[in-house]
Amino acid sequence: MNLLKSLSIVALMSISSLAAAGQKSAVANFNVIPMPSSVEIDEKGHPFVIDKDTKIVWYADLEKEAKMLQGYIEDATGLKLPLSTEPQKGAITLAVNPTVKKGAEGYRMKVCGCGISIASQTTAGVFYGIQTLRKALPIGEKKKKVEVPAATIEDSPRFAYRGAHLDVCRHFFNADSVKIYIDMLAMHNINRFHWHISEDQGWRIEIKKYPRLTEVGGTRPATVIGHNSGRYDGKPHSGFFTQEQAREIVQYAADRHITVIPEIDLPGHMQAALAAYPELGCTGGPYHVWQKWGVSDEVLCAGNPNTLTFIKDVLDEITQIFPSQYIHIGGDECPKKRWKSCPKCQAKMAELGFTDSGKRKPEERMQGYIMQEAEHFLASKGRKVIGWDEILEGGLGPDVTIHSWRGIDGAVQAARQGHDAILSPTSHMYFDYYQSKDKDSEPDAIGGYLPVEKVYSFNPIPSELTADEAKHIIGVQANVWTEYIPTFKQVQYMALPRFAALCEVQWCAQDQRDYAQFLQRLPRLAALYRLCGYNYAKHVVK
Ligand code: ACM
Ligand code: ZN
Repeated sequence: MNLLKSLSIVALMSISSLAAAGQKSAVANFNVIPMPSSVEIDEKGHPFVIDKDTKIVWYADLEKEAKMLQGYIEDATGLKLPLSTEPQKGAITLAVNPTVKKGAEGYRMKVCGCGISIASQTTAGVFYGIQTLRKALPIGEKKKKVEVPAATIEDSPRFAYRGAHLDVCRHFFNADSVKIYIDMLAMHNINRFHWHISEDQGWRIEIKKYPRLTEVGGTRPATVIGHNSGRYDGKPHSGFFTQEQAREIVQYAADRHITVIPEIDLPGHMQAALAAYPELGCTGGPYHVWQKWGVSDEVLCAGNPNTLTFIKDVLDEITQIFPSQYIHIGGDECPKKRWKSCPKCQAKMAELGFTDSGKRKPEERMQGYIMQEAEHFLASKGRKVIGWDEILEGGLGPDVTIHSWRGIDGAVQAARQGHDAILSPTSHMYFDYYQSKDKDSEPDAIGGYLPVEKVYSFNPIPSELTADEAKHIIGVQANVWTEYIPTFKQVQYMALPRFAALCEVQWCAQDQRDYAQFLQRLPRLAALYRLCGYNYAKHVVK
């Protein structure tokens, strides 16, 4: 059934069921975001009625998912359903079933008068079915019964990598806020949380071998006011995550089928680390945790052998905290000014034979050397790396994944060279940009203009790629940099409802996407935002 038809049938169903049900029941509605691949409403079938005695039956490893569904239903409707592991009719049943051939994260949901079943080959797929059911529920209508229309839903995502990033360095957000952010990702079927935890303006993760990283690097004495105005607020800004807290966040995310990918940004964006360990810089310092925004010239000294030891020691602890297949090692915006005038760096480049004669500048090859050392170290631990698209300039190993942010050219080049790529072009995926042209009515932002409609319009497969090359585009990610985002409420405002548009880019087939229909579905998701207490921008939905 095409989407328009299925939407209008769902709308009709809602009206007729409401009329039939009078005041007694509220009615669920599968006009959700992201829209499932296929929703077949059985017009003749009886709806399933959820009341306080309806059981959630779970099998195998699905206890956490069952509890999560129980919580979602209670939050939305006030009905706290009992859990059971006894097979029975008239229940909501969650099952892992290898015969549901919908891919690793796909699921099938069947609703009839005798129950709801959500089945998938994996617990992750069941979780996405739960998200769809949760978003179909009537929000906040505290009735004793909820009618769910008879339907068959078949669903699976377009991309395996569906990411969202958060910079907790420019402004620090505590563990409770990060968990809420993870809840926001789960609501949008996002499965990768790219956690930016090292920066010029603050080092945010405990590293036991280098305690000064957080003791010194975790605090900046003041922050510049506005856009590098030259005036400072005089207020220290501090915060970091202990390894124990970070592990708890990793588990919290894993429970929601989200992998945390940490980023240690190398070899630039390191001024906070240099404030803690000045001997790792070309000049020896002194350095301060940076108090303004931009790209700092103070980077790790490439000629100091302790630099590579430091990188490997830090990454070693990072791999012990974060079990993700990928570790993000940054590589963006590393000025080479200090290296050019540093005798140690120059001697190292000469030793490695990096001369001016090659097609790459010696300093670029030097950066490539450092990134490859990090990559090889992580490979020895069974991990793979992601780097920002600048790392294409220094030479890189075949297994490296490119994170294209300065447009999509990085992804095109990467895919043509046989590298996997993730797309986060500033044009469509930088959620620190303004959402409205009326900047005076908006909180201060970094610049740019990225309304929901533009996010929605993004087709992540660059048209210049062949079908084979396009297989290297593993997914899409939005980035939330926080120079101009001092509070978590404002993080939410910048992310929502742009995450709603993002998740259809990530989840739905290209030919299934329709902005006008998306806007019709958005108010029900916004009701869920309100129920969860999320702050969201109101330009396209009230
Ligand atoms: C970036 O925005 N510097 C990756
Ligand atoms: Zn140096």
